[in-house]
Amino acid sequence: MCGIVGYIGSKDTTKFLLDGLKELEYRGYDSAGIALLNKDRIDVFKALGKLNNLQDKIDHSTLDEYDIGIGHTRWATHGKPTELNAHPHLGEYSYVVHNGIIENYKELKDELIEAGHNFVSQTDTEVIVHLFENYQNKLNDTTKAFKETISRLQGAFSILLISKANPEKIFFFKHGSPLIIARGNEEEEVLFSSSDSPLIGLAKEVVYLEDGIGGVASKNSIDFFSDDYSWSTLPTSKQFAQKNGFRFFMEKETYEQSDVVSDCMLGRINDEEIIFDEIDKSLLDGIKEIKICACGTSYHAGLTASYLFERLSKIKCNVEIASEFRYKEPLLTDDTLFIVISQSGETADTLEALKMAKNNGLKSLVICNVDNSSMTRMSDYTILTRAGIEKGVASTKAFSTQTVVLWMLSLYFAKIKDSISNELMKSELHALREVPKSLLISNSIHEKTKRLSKRYLHGHGFFFIGRDVFFPLALEGALKLKEISYLHAEGYPSGEMKHGPIALADPELFTIALMPENLLYDKIKSNVEELSARDSTICSISPLEFELSDDFIKTQKTDHYMLEFFEMLVVLQLFSMEISIRLGNDVDMPRNLAKSVTVE
Ligand code: G6P
Repeated sequence: MCGIVGYIGSKDTTKFLLDGLKELEYRGYDSAGIALLNKDRIDVFKALGKLNNLQDKIDHSTLDEYDIGIGHTRWATHGKPTELNAHPHLGEYSYVVHNGIIENYKELKDELIEAGHNFVSQTDTEVIVHLFENYQNKLNDTTKAFKETISRLQGAFSILLISKANPEKIFFFKHGSPLIIARGNEEEEVLFSSSDSPLIGLAKEVVYLEDGIGGVASKNSIDFFSDDYSWSTLPTSKQFAQKNGFRFFMEKETYEQSDVVSDCMLGRINDEEIIFDEIDKSLLDGIKEIKICACGTSYHAGLTASYLFERLSKIKCNVEIASEFRYKEPLLTDDTLFIVISQSGETADTLEALKMAKNNGLKSLVICNVDNSSMTRMSDYTILTRAGIEKGVASTKAFSTQTVVLWMLSLYFAKIKDSISNELMKSELHALREVPKSLLISNSIHEKTKRLSKRYLHGHGFFFIGRDVFFPLALEGALKLKEISYLHAEGYPSGEMKHGPIALADPELFTIALMPENLLYDKIKSNVEELSARDSTICSISPLEFELSDDFIKTQKTDHYMLEFFEMLVVLQLFSMEISIRLGNDVDMPRNLAKSVTVE
């Protein structure tokens, strides 16, 4: 969720780092920093907020000549966005930049404090540089010290480290988060970046490091710790690189979901329970019910959560669209936990709803993707979704990470309320760990949605139908289609079709039926049969073949309905996108919409 760059060579080091960070700014921008090394001196510049602030600081400083430098743009996970928490992080004589999360940082920090190290930030990253120096002080061998350090870390960590103890080198390691090393176009030049785009035009050959691969680089050598690497050619188009080769940001973000959901769960699940460092068990003291407020896609995540809070946590839960809630003169009592959900943390209606709850003395919690946003500043508690920046206006990975956080939260509450058996908790935790797999996209399923999309470009409307949590999913599928294809679509609870909408059924009415095997299959099947009997065109999405459907998208067999939920989510996102592409629309910036709606 952060961006990393590094440089060794005789060109303008500062310029490479700043230009590179600019390219990566889309990954996160709550703070940025660089560390520059000139033999016995390391100069460091850090600034909060967008990169321009860092650029301004540097423009007002007198700079030395530097041959080595590392840089970072941050998207906060542990610790608030402050200058102290910005990377690079310092020990006594070394600096590190890191992308990922060190899961065992607390144990390591305690151990290092015991050994006399002083910590200045709230981040997990700072332990890396102290651990390195701890080993270096004992071993007096930087490569050995770096290897020892790596061997102690758990979680995700892509790292660049520089040290006055060996001032001509950059130590690097990749695990979890991406990292690329390149030979520059100039002689004796080595470049690092966490994605392609900063390197384009400056290097031709790169190694996309695999997990567990690291090494030491100097201007004339790159020593890998193992042989498991290979050089490949760098693409030449920046646009292409930013989108990682995908046609649209929405497509890239749909594919990214498996990874960001893993990031989102990192350090938050163990064998017995859910861990949220950012909240505590007293959150539920005196609470009898939960009220959720949100807009758009976030509202759909909230609706999904309402099923899980009641089913698993046994807490009464209702969900409201923020713009409705604001003016209905709601009765607010302080035995209600008020949860807002927002990708941006800035949506005006949701923010106002949160203000109302605060003014009425309710405890508040925000599930948000942007730290330091208006909502995270206002709310009593924040849980970050760690989805990274979402560029496509049609929300994808924000929804999947929100839903995962809410599912985890329902289990966290269930444990506090003692409303779940150990057995059920175990099987829920097991299912949660499988979510990244359900979000992986196979060629065949993408091809299938692509092929089918050509049959759904006309008609007088779409009904997406489902039951239980598949009803909010149906709403989300319909919203995706409306947003980017401009076709009329509605999401509906399948059992409710017979109370009116079924009157619309004819061959030009397209029904997209969500038919999970593990939740109310027979019930939804009879609802779809009713539509089929009235000649509606049916596309069913299910692991079980359904003889009455005109089209069928087969999902995988699993043993948990939420895993079916996530796989179907991906199918719906791809299906809308492929229809939009065929219609020649702008997938990433659909007409009349905005990514963040800060007006009422
Ligand atoms: C806009 C976006 C939607 C989003 C909604 C709520 O309408 O286009 O994709 O779901 O705002 O945004 P939030 O940032 O609060 O989740």
